[in-house]
Amino acid sequence: MAESLAIDGGTPIRTENWPPLIPGGAVYGEEEKQAAIEVIEARSPFRYYGIESLGKVDRFEAAYARYVGTRFALATHSGSTALSVALAALDVGPGTEVIMPAFMWIADVNAVVHLRAVPVLADIDETLNLDPRDIERCITPRTRVIIAVHMAGTAADMPAILEVVDRHGIPVLEDCSQAAGARIGGRPVGSMGTAGATSLQYNKNFTTGEGGMITTDDDEVFRRAVCFHDTGFERDLEGVSTGEDSAFETFGMGVRMDELRGAVGLVQLEKLPSILQGMQRHQVRLRETLGKTPGIQLRRIVDPEGDSGAYFSWIHDSAEAAAKFTAAIRAEGIPAGEPHGGIHQYRYMSNLLNKAPVTTAGCPWTCPFNAESPMEYRAGMLPRSDDLLDRARILPLPAQLTDEDVDDVIRAFRKVARAVL
Ligand SMILES: Cc1ncc(COP(=O)(O)O)c(C=O)c1O
Repeated sequence: MAESLAIDGGTPIRTENWPPLIPGGAVYGEEEKQAAIEVIEARSPFRYYGIESLGKVDRFEAAYARYVGTRFALATHSGSTALSVALAALDVGPGTEVIMPAFMWIADVNAVVHLRAVPVLADIDETLNLDPRDIERCITPRTRVIIAVHMAGTAADMPAILEVVDRHGIPVLEDCSQAAGARIGGRPVGSMGTAGATSLQYNKNFTTGEGGMITTDDDEVFRRAVCFHDTGFERDLEGVSTGEDSAFETFGMGVRMDELRGAVGLVQLEKLPSILQGMQRHQVRLRETLGKTPGIQLRRIVDPEGDSGAYFSWIHDSAEAAAKFTAAIRAEGIPAGEPHGGIHQYRYMSNLLNKAPVTTAGCPWTCPFNAESPMEYRAGMLPRSDDLLDRARILPLPAQLTDEDVDDVIRAFRKVARAVL
């Protein structure tokens, strides 16, 4: 006789808590502590000078550039400011449009709107990331940048995206915040587009609590980014002041990374491969064991071996089946859910749907430079993305899960699938 489902009053597969997905933060230890103490003892927490400067941010940038395989890396306060600085460096501003996928993080929209440019929404595909087939529909003479956001641990289909955009000569900014360390054919995210931006906030694959990083191979993008992240101050490619009398090339932000974060970031970066391995191990087992379950398909991963492993993710045949399955498996003690609780889909962003103005003058929506980009946003405008997001589900896979925890997922998945799919 079939076991009765917990949702119908049966015994749940598990009642133990699921650990939170804090990949880097969960392995903070003595190494991070010593690194931070070193900076404090040197009384030099500022990156560009100090009583006994240790150059931690410089070294963190160099190590990250080596890890990603780009010529340059620039550390910032946050992923949000990494996006803003990178977009400014790519010349996004009034009169320009930036294409991004329907499923992204609000920070991607924020960065564009704050620069007084106009976001253009493109569909996602079964990777749950930007659909390369929808990019050309969105391109206009005003398109300045395309943001490929690598959501929920998995890289967008960069080879296919680049094939399309290279025909148009438009730069791609990769938002790697949720997938640091993921690769396609050995190439890390952040090295495939013209530039990459990533967040080092607390729940990312590696973390400095708050922080960000920009990567690029392009001299001019890097030079402009350094300038925009440091008050408009002009520095050469090594980050050294040019020493000119009039050193302020333009107007910038003050979003330099500090040495405490630089020191901790260096340690976390060394731990990143083992953090990824811990998550990947669970993901590989779940994809192999449950991938052929009738009624679901796995989220498409372009290079499964290179995935960051942070989530197990699948797509149901219908939204109704997804809702029923999710309620039942959650009752079994497995916290599967909609991708990011649904909130980082365009159709739930009230500020975007209402075109909330950044200034009392109504910018960027009423800015005369944007007159040729009269964008409207409404729920339902991207039915293919809506449908995919209604059918997709994700389960976070913290590395500290045990094989027995993963056994629970497999048992619960099979039990619920037999009963409801
Ligand atoms: C895809 C993505 N982009 C950007 C950000 C913004 O990063 P931060 O919180 O460091 O500003 C996040 C943060 O969660 C994110 O997930």
